[in-house]
Amino acid sequence: MEITVIGTGYVGLVTAVGFAELGHRVLGVDRDAAKVRRLQAGDPVIYEPGLAEKLVAQQGAGRLHFTTEIAAGVRHAPILFICVGTPSLPDGSADLSQMEAVVRQIAAALDGYRLVVEKSTVPVRTSSWVHRTLRLYTRPGIEFEVASNPEFLREGRAVHDFFHPDRIVLGVPSQRAGDLLGEVYAPFHCPKVITDPNTAEIIKHACNSFLALKISYINLIAELCERTQADVHTVAQAMGLDQRIGPEFLEAGLGYGGACLPKDVQAFIHIGEEHGLDFSLLKEADAINRRRVDGILQKLKRALWILEDKEIAVLGLAFKANTDDVRGSQGLAVARALLDSGARVRLWDPHAAARAQELLSPSERVAYTDSIWGALEGAHAAVIATPWEELRALDLARVAATMLTPIVVDGRNLLDTEAVRAAGLEYHPVGRPSVAFA
Ligand code: UGA
Repeated sequence: MEITVIGTGYVGLVTAVGFAELGHRVLGVDRDAAKVRRLQAGDPVIYEPGLAEKLVAQQGAGRLHFTTEIAAGVRHAPILFICVGTPSLPDGSADLSQMEAVVRQIAAALDGYRLVVEKSTVPVRTSSWVHRTLRLYTRPGIEFEVASNPEFLREGRAVHDFFHPDRIVLGVPSQRAGDLLGEVYAPFHCPKVITDPNTAEIIKHACNSFLALKISYINLIAELCERTQADVHTVAQAMGLDQRIGPEFLEAGLGYGGACLPKDVQAFIHIGEEHGLDFSLLKEADAINRRRVDGILQKLKRALWILEDKEIAVLGLAFKANTDDVRGSQGLAVARALLDSGARVRLWDPHAAARAQELLSPSERVAYTDSIWGALEGAHAAVIATPWEELRALDLARVAATMLTPIVVDGRNLLDTEAVRAAGLEYHPVGRPSVAFA
């Protein structure tokens, strides 16, 4: 069937390419003309494993096109997916201005029934606002409906997640809307949760907030392990074997970053308070997450005594592996905290360095290096901030020989303690015993 996807960021582009591969004829719309030109030329703009190949293949098959014109998107399809950004306002609530702008443009172009579907993460009851906005700005007598179909894909494995969802959530106002969305998702055989739009909107925020809670919980346990010479890795492993808990999202370290979890926790706290509920539970998860960077800095201070004018390598700037996204990057947060302490930083990332430079410019105290070894050469310490495979597979003896003082603070618990000891490194992981020189 014909589908329009409005907003071609991480979610929108993967969704557009994915729908095209399922056999739908997709038109992607974005207001950024330069981006649309690159997409039309087969350049995905973002780094996401497998995306570039599929983009080009679907364009070649004639099933995927891009435009800047929302009116063309409205003409193209009976179903319009909105995937625009919903960033945070200073008070933590979601900024829905892009959503409203898009909905008004859709309203102006409506010429008959359309199903407007929110895929962006939005506060509960946004679908009512979308409905009201369409009603206010469209001509009388024109039919439309609004549904919520939250997306659960993870950056770095978004293409895989699109084709292998754990479940599909369809918040629909009517049988007609449910049938249309059912047709879009017919090829999927995973569980489909059919519900109302408010419930679907809450499901998305509830999931991301729960994942954040789980990460902060294990990080709190890691803090206790550090004070008691216990090993959080083994604690997490044993917890994860309990089927009621499960093994995922129990990796202690620098905490959660990115464009979703931190923002969605804030937004959910705000939503709870708007409805007269005390969401302190999530405030605590957020507070634990915010002190992760300081925890790493304390480890460096304990190892180096004075940070001023020390050369510190920060390995990994993407907020997680397999993406070039540096929004909410813990690596950059560590680098900034080090600069505030008077240190110099050498930054390395295999995919995210260019984007990182837009947020932290190179300077006399900030150097970007193309290789891990360039960052480590003569460094007083290194911080592992992103779990890239290259870091997991490091030649540790060479690390020890390259650094001025061989001190590694492992913010992602990537390295094996025995291997590190054998290589002669001083090693400070998170929530696990250190290997330290006297
Ligand atoms: C998250 C959710 O996992 C997706 O389901 C959701 O669709 C997406 O947000 C969204 O709302 O769009 P994402 O932000 O791509 O996906 O990344 P995650 O895999 O959730 O990781 C978030 C952060 O938590 C990363 O910084 C990661 O390093 C950290 N993390 C993850 C941990 O510190 N420990 C863990 O055990 C797992």
